[in-house]
Amino acid sequence: MKSSAVNVVLSTALVGKSLAATSGDFNALAMNVAGLPAIFNGNEVPGDKATNARTIGSKFAEYGYDIIHVQEDFNYHANIYETDNHKYRTATSGGVPFGSGLNTLANFDWIDYTRVKWDTCSDASSNDCLTPKGFTFMRLKVDDGVYVDCYNLHTDAGTEDGDETARNSNLAQVANYIDIWSTGNAVLVFGDTNSRYTRTADNITIYSSQNGLTDAWLQLVRNGVVPTEETLCDNPSATSYCETVDKLFYRGSALVNLQATSFEYASPKFLQSNGSILSDHNPILVNFTWSSGSSLRQSNFFGGPHGTWFSDVTTLGAKTGRKAATLSFSGANRLDSVGLTLSDGTALKHGGTGGTAATLTLGSTEYWTSAQLCQGQKDSQTRIFYIKATTSAGKTLESGTSTSDCTTFTAPTGWQIVGYLGQDGDEIDQLAFVYAPQ
Ligand SMILES: *[C@@H]1O[C@H](CO)[C@@H](O)[C@H](O)[C@H]1NC(C)=O
Ligand SMILES: *[C@@H]1O[C@H](CO)[C@@H](O)[C@H](O)[C@H]1NC(C)=O
Ligand SMILES: *[C@@H]1O[C@H](CO)[C@@H](O)[C@H](O)[C@H]1NC(C)=O
Repeated sequence: MKSSAVNVVLSTALVGKSLAATSGDFNALAMNVAGLPAIFNGNEVPGDKATNARTIGSKFAEYGYDIIHVQEDFNYHANIYETDNHKYRTATSGGVPFGSGLNTLANFDWIDYTRVKWDTCSDASSNDCLTPKGFTFMRLKVDDGVYVDCYNLHTDAGTEDGDETARNSNLAQVANYIDIWSTGNAVLVFGDTNSRYTRTADNITIYSSQNGLTDAWLQLVRNGVVPTEETLCDNPSATSYCETVDKLFYRGSALVNLQATSFEYASPKFLQSNGSILSDHNPILVNFTWSSGSSLRQSNFFGGPHGTWFSDVTTLGAKTGRKAATLSFSGANRLDSVGLTLSDGTALKHGGTGGTAATLTLGSTEYWTSAQLCQGQKDSQTRIFYIKATTSAGKTLESGTSTSDCTTFTAPTGWQIVGYLGQDGDEIDQLAFVYAPQ
């Protein structure tokens, strides 16, 4: 992982300002670690499962991949974490039959972590209903104001009719969740899909057709051509041309450009010292470059992981010449709602209907440039209690009640605040700001 701040000086008369662009790279590994108890499934992997799990953990530490999604991380989870040293790791949801086997190990922190169980499972060909399998969601913070929504999944296995029906449902459940919880955001979906393009009943193309995601393998190895013939992989695989069920799909957003630069089966990097495999799956490794949006960016988030996701990014992305003309907040003991009207008349509003309204009209060359937020506890959950906006002319607008836990977000030089993203209900639970060039 590396990050670099690059100053791009735009000398055109139109912009005439320096623009701080930020870019970097990261990689993502998905690995089914074959951690079912040996009595249930030996996975045709030689050796002792606990020893192999310790070796997998030590290789995670050695390679230091930035985001690792593991599946089937059940009864040897502690052995993996014993030898791994990633700074950020999810707590296990338990071994068989309590856990989902899904965990994340990362060099980045995250917010809004959620585990979701599948609506449908099938025991048609294997014991998929034995454990509460499903998917996980987290909003990973790659850098300041740079977030990528990461989904880990392990769908129903097998190719009996019941399996295909369950898997189609599992894949669609994630696609529908993305439509609600990742609107406007960059997304990575990676894990064990148990699907191949030739299993057409699965509808694995749903991530492309419904969510606008790209399969990194299809893009980089197969020139974007959906396979109509099955090409099974050896393990370890010496080629990336063959297709495995472990996949990675991604998209960037108006806030952050994402580009996959390489795809490989990392199985040769995950072998026992005598050359035997450590898992019955080829792990997949995808390298990425990222860069901040040139016309929209965002602040960090503040507040709690509650309420429903909202984002003005899609609305703002469809416009040019974005500028806040009027700010409108509503609050009392806490912050009830935030809104603004753009100079083209578009009104953006989030939160509930309560509180006392306060508005500020900005001059034609006046921009909203910074905002202070304060958070606090309501019913044992964190919410936003207070906002104070400051404009380029030094005018302010405040709402709600200040607390001792506050932070201030300031638009980059030459940029302004033009919208919001976060989570809301009757009040504002979590908030970040969308920036655009002035
Ligand atoms: C490697 O060692 C394991 C025991 O850890 C053994 O089961 C396996 O057969 C060995 N593989 C080879 C290729 O010798
Ligand atoms: C596949 O997903 C697309 C997008 O949601 C949907 O329109 C289509 O009906 C699905 N097809 C099957 C076979 O499930
Ligand atoms: C992917 O990134 C890793 C870590 O930066 C690097 O070691 C590896 O060579 C990269 N792979 C390719 C194919 O560029």
